[in-house]
Amino acid sequence: MNQQPDTPDTQHISPSAEQAKRTGKFRTKPVSFVRRGNRLNPRRQKVWDELKDQYVLHLDRDEASTSVSPDVELDLAQVYGNTNPLIVEIGTGQGENLAAAAARHRDKNFLAVEVYTPGIAGLLVQVKAEQLENVRAIEANAPEVLAHTLPAGSVSELWIYFPDPWHKKKHHKRRMITAEFLDVVARALAPGGIVRLATDWSGYAEQMRAIFGADPRFQNVHAGERAGQDSPLTKVRAEGLEKEDPLPAADALDTEGGWAPRFEGRVLTNFESKAHRAGREIFDLTFRFAEQA
Ligand SMILES: C[S@@+](CC[C@H](N)C(=O)[O-])C[C@H]1O[C@@H](n2cnc3c(N)ncnc32)[C@H](O)[C@@H]1O
Repeated sequence: MNQQPDTPDTQHISPSAEQAKRTGKFRTKPVSFVRRGNRLNPRRQKVWDELKDQYVLHLDRDEASTSVSPDVELDLAQVYGNTNPLIVEIGTGQGENLAAAAARHRDKNFLAVEVYTPGIAGLLVQVKAEQLENVRAIEANAPEVLAHTLPAGSVSELWIYFPDPWHKKKHHKRRMITAEFLDVVARALAPGGIVRLATDWSGYAEQMRAIFGADPRFQNVHAGERAGQDSPLTKVRAEGLEKEDPLPAADALDTEGGWAPRFEGRVLTNFESKAHRAGREIFDLTFRFAEQA
């Protein structure tokens, strides 16, 4: 799930339509994912065949198979059959978290945005088992979905748990959460909307905190909390938990804090369990989208 090759997947790096014709590539910017095998096991294949037309939204594509046409905007009332609040999870993986939340909150609508087909099929297995009517999925590159597909101001909460960290310096440009990404987040969120993030990579956590913290459209709901000795960042730095040499106490101290408590609605996925077993620290962040910048 967290595959990070030394050589970025150039198939997904590239330009606009004209450039695409010239270069044979599709997007101007690197994407945050590597497409993995899309083969489904028999159980998932059966459920996929049965439910995909009902739950996986069929959208016109742009040049790449994981793109969405910029000309399509969803009619959410038609998609869900109601106007309940919408929670979007980007990078749902196997869908454990989204399915559990949708089962607990049947009065809210949930949208999974994921490029990994077996993961979406795994979500559909849970949708079937729990008879969830309030779930839909989009198989596409999430920033494009926020930029075009969702109506502006339509998302009440956006969750991004354990986005691919691209921890090598030369791959940082592939990280999803950048200052530019915040523009599409701001477009999609409703006024007062909430963004919940989690990662087990301290460097990415610091990047998230800095980028959102520098943007006046967002407010850190837990600003100043879990600072100093209570900060997971202090612990990672002081104990050298990410295979770096421990820093002297004074340098290790994270005086800024701003880390959220673990969101009680977040279930422990296989991915997060692995991080715990490896002794990694988890960083949670929560931001509120202001009505006006
Ligand atoms: C490290 S996994 C975490 C999965 C899950 N959130 C969890 O906590 O178990 C990251 C997921 O994000 C998906 N992903 C990465 N970039 C994406 C993008 N641009 N659009 C949609 N999904 C993406 C990957 O396919 C992968 O399933």
